[in-house]
Amino acid sequence: MVSHPGEQEVTSEQKVRSEQQVRVIRNQQLNEQSVLLTLEAPAIAQSAQPGQFVNLACNKFLRRPIGIMQTDRNTGLIKIGIRIQGEGTRWLANAQPGDSLSALGPLGHGFELANCRRIITVGGGTGVFPLFFVQQRCHELDLESIAVCGFRSRTDSVLTGDYAGLGCRTLFASDCGDLDVPGHAAQALLQLLSDLPEKEGTAILTCGPKVMMQAVARIAAEYKIPCQVSLEERMACGIGVCLVCACAVKNGGEQGTSYQRCCVEGPVFPAEVIQWST
Ligand SMILES: Cc1cc2nc3c(=O)[nH]c(=O)nc-3n(C[C@H](O)[C@H](O)[C@H](O)COP(=O)(O)OP(=O)(O)OC[C@H]3O[C@@H](n4cnc5c(N)ncnc54)[C@H](O)[C@@H]3O)c2cc1C
Ligand code: FES
Repeated sequence: MVSHPGEQEVTSEQKVRSEQQVRVIRNQQLNEQSVLLTLEAPAIAQSAQPGQFVNLACNKFLRRPIGIMQTDRNTGLIKIGIRIQGEGTRWLANAQPGDSLSALGPLGHGFELANCRRIITVGGGTGVFPLFFVQQRCHELDLESIAVCGFRSRTDSVLTGDYAGLGCRTLFASDCGDLDVPGHAAQALLQLLSDLPEKEGTAILTCGPKVMMQAVARIAAEYKIPCQVSLEERMACGIGVCLVCACAVKNGGEQGTSYQRCCVEGPVFPAEVIQWST
């Protein structure tokens, strides 16, 4: 088994349980900075839940966490969307059909869809990739859903056709005003909620830049709609050992703060427990 630096504390049992070699089937360029990788990963495709992620080895010291965007249990294929941020994501975005990648996953605690009558996803930046999996699951469950996605511009936008293809209602926002709604995804959510007659049973699920998610959580609280947020903290091991990803959460009902591992207890948390200021 391949050993990667920075994983000394990971027991062999943990590695055997979740490390797998996944084959790249397709690499689709979405725009200048983003690609869609189709991977042959039957074990991940079988058990992954929306909001979970894979931790992929790359050319750098540590693995890079990437949300699972789509799964097909029949073919064993999964899709992930990668936006190039630095060297690790650049290396992953250059993976070619036939290449093999070392993946740990599916990891983390995903979104809760039970007891919801309507799901609204609000994504910005790379958040639109993992939230696509939520919309895929809503489609499978025949659950009413609305996708709100925010981009800088039409040129920067990704997956708009794929979201629309799922049959959910969509609202695409862009900072420069060349999509459905001018402004940020949170502003589009506000517009959507003000027009939405019946909100009982609705849940808001969000992923993207922290400032956007904080605004989404505030709007959800104003409308008394339950909200779940997916945090994109920096990670290392991805399996709960190194504590690099510790994030501050409120202690139930008290003023104090405690820390939870974003890679195990998260990345998805109820919005009301997040300590946004830390
Ligand atoms: C649970 C989870 C799911 C994610 N899902 C996706 C996804 O579906 N698609 C995708 O493209 N990216 C996703 N990310 C972000 C991705 O992991 C980072 O962009 C990546 O680790 C950066 O590595 P790098 O070597 O390219 O950049 P680095 O050289 O390490 O950093 C380059 C820039 O990226 C920023 N960065 C580094 N780590 C993170 C991070 N964890 N989150 C946000 N910004 C970071 C740095 O601050 C820096 O500005 C996810 C992150 C997490 C924690
Ligand atoms: S990344 Fe190591 S504990 Fe979360």
